[in-house]
Amino acid sequence: MDKKPYRYAVIGYPLGHSISPEIHNPAFRYLDIPARYLKYEIPPESFDREIEKLKRQSWAGFNVTIPFKERILVHLDEVETLSDRIGAVNTIVITENGSWKGYNTDYDGFLGPIGADLHALESCTIVGAGGAARAVAFGIVSKAVNLKTLRFLNRTPEKARELARTLKMFKEIPVYISPLHETSMETIPADLVVNTTSVGMGELAGQMPVNPVNLLKPGGIAYDLIYNPAETLFLKSAREAGFRTINGLPMLIGQGARSFELWTRREFPAAVRKQLCIG
Ligand code: ATR
Repeated sequence: MDKKPYRYAVIGYPLGHSISPEIHNPAFRYLDIPARYLKYEIPPESFDREIEKLKRQSWAGFNVTIPFKERILVHLDEVETLSDRIGAVNTIVITENGSWKGYNTDYDGFLGPIGADLHALESCTIVGAGGAARAVAFGIVSKAVNLKTLRFLNRTPEKARELARTLKMFKEIPVYISPLHETSMETIPADLVVNTTSVGMGELAGQMPVNPVNLLKPGGIAYDLIYNPAETLFLKSAREAGFRTINGLPMLIGQGARSFELWTRREFPAAVRKQLCIG
């Protein structure tokens, strides 16, 4: 049997917080795949040079994280269609002949925990309009077939307007945009409210970009892409008001599992997924 050790890595900056090796290495071990997954930190100023260096080395694939999910696009030989529309790539598959193909698996990861709710979803509010919001918005617009209203709340409304224009080229749907600070005046509740901003983690732990309780319909879902802390103020506030809540851990594991499947063409082991969810 060919025992060539395949090398994978996550590229980003900084990577101290990344738990991607803890997702992939146990899965490689579980399936007895001779591969290793590392962290490869690249300071933003040397990004292009480092990528060209990586291209001359022997790698099997990469994850790409903040702040390079958009910058990586120009270095790819090919981008999967929907990922190209999203305009952000978090997974690179390197083929036998050395060509680099980009995918966005954040999209699948985000949809995983709400798969059973998508059919009934009629209204969604997305807080934020950055790279993560793009994957979330395209996921919702593609898969929530009965969606009637999409709303963005963003500190910089112009950024949300630009995203709304891109989305409308993909699917004609009413998109509303509000600045964050005026949201207390908004009283159009949604079935799903998603926080895609970093408010609630790191230096902004203990804060929330907006109170989801004011934005949700009875029976609605508050979804925060943050996984550390496991319960942000955004989710705590929703939970205490009786709403269902989802944090970013299943999305993180889901996007990783999808990347793994693209690289190895093997199903991500359920036992490893279960172990990761328990923590
Ligand atoms: P990511 O790829 O994680 O989405 P990003 O593209 O930098 O990162 O986007 C971050 C999002 O969080 C943006 O919508 C940003 O708002 P702006 O468009 O106004 O920059 C939002 N965000 C970040 N910090 C914020 C804060 N302190 N208050 C409100 N929104 C914030």
